Amino acid sequence: MSTRPIRIGMTLGGRSSTFVLGPLAGLELGAFVPHPPPVVILDQAVASGHAPWLEQIHQSCGHPSPRTLILSGGEGCKTLAKLEEVYGWLAECGLRRDGVIVGIGGGAVLDLAGMAAATWCRGVGFVSVPTTLLAMVDASIGGKTAVNAAGLKNPVGCFHPASGILADPGFLSSLPRGAWRDGLAELIKTAAIGDPELFREMHEARPRLFTLFAGPDADRPVPGVLGSLDWTSWIGRAASVKARIVTRDFQEGGLRRSLNLGHTLGHALEAISHRNGPPLSHGQAVAIGMAVVFRVAAQRGDCPLPAAVQMVELLEACGLPVSHPAPDPAELERMLQGDKKQTSRQGLNWVLPRGLGQMNIFGQVRTEEILRWLD
Ligand code: GLY
Repeated sequence: MSTRPIRIGMTLGGRSSTFVLGPLAGLELGAFVPHPPPVVILDQAVASGHAPWLEQIHQSCGHPSPRTLILSGGEGCKTLAKLEEVYGWLAECGLRRDGVIVGIGGGAVLDLAGMAAATWCRGVGFVSVPTTLLAMVDASIGGKTAVNAAGLKNPVGCFHPASGILADPGFLSSLPRGAWRDGLAELIKTAAIGDPELFREMHEARPRLFTLFAGPDADRPVPGVLGSLDWTSWIGRAASVKARIVTRDFQEGGLRRSLNLGHTLGHALEAISHRNGPPLSHGQAVAIGMAVVFRVAAQRGDCPLPAAVQMVELLEACGLPVSHPAPDPAELERMLQGDKKQTSRQGLNWVLPRGLGQMNIFGQVRTEEILRWLD
């Protein structure tokens, strides 16, 4: 297993954003925090389990006890009310225009902290320390920040890249199995979009993945998980794919849309399941979305059948669902039409695979074609 930190540099909207991956990545915080002490928005899930390590990270930047706001993570924290609470706290801290917010946690806490950084004083510095697999391979890279509003997912947000993204796989030792699965869905997505060799490696590792992730106890850590596969290499390769895409298309004019593979249906099913239960996690919803679009594309003859079969096999090996009870077609249609990626000129474009590593970002899919692949 490699121990040297991996560094990926990006320039996003004219700003530099550096992804650092490795066991001591957090100790580089000082390089991204200028003179005034930073303020920290910390995910409750990591606050107690990693306290000594967090202390070392803070000491490394010369501010051993920064002002810290602890939030319980998960989608529930991404509200306008919570953002307002964060603003109140930033005012109390006296954070000025040249200040820095450090977000430490999973994707939801980073989305909220990033949104606060993007808007407080019209934009202060932001450094992100992702502590979940999903945040390391997806949410922390590329500068998207958002909160949920009006019953929709992420409609209020802006692009505000973190100057530093410090990813230490050690945080994953305490990650519950369910959260691993959510991250694996995004890792598989990124491999399918931009690194077919990584996809094949993951597909070959199915027996190991199955043993680790397909079992019960979704809310418990996975014993021995860190030593069992070369996570640093897999995370680094997924991060490189994402960095390459967002560097070429920061504000999602075209290419970046490929990262929505599985998300069009996924977001719709996720929202419906939260209303009607039982709720799907984001990773579960994206897994179903990917399995369905691969099957639709293969059935049309637009994607080789083996690629679709491998996608389904890999998702299943990771304990992820590949189908779902069909929702009411009218409700599904309504949710799809509300997708924020729809534009008034082009309507809703789906990401449809042409094969591993090749995506059509202008796909058109009829609701009947989707329903055929739902139970
Ligand atoms: N999570 C998709 C993107 O960053 O564009």
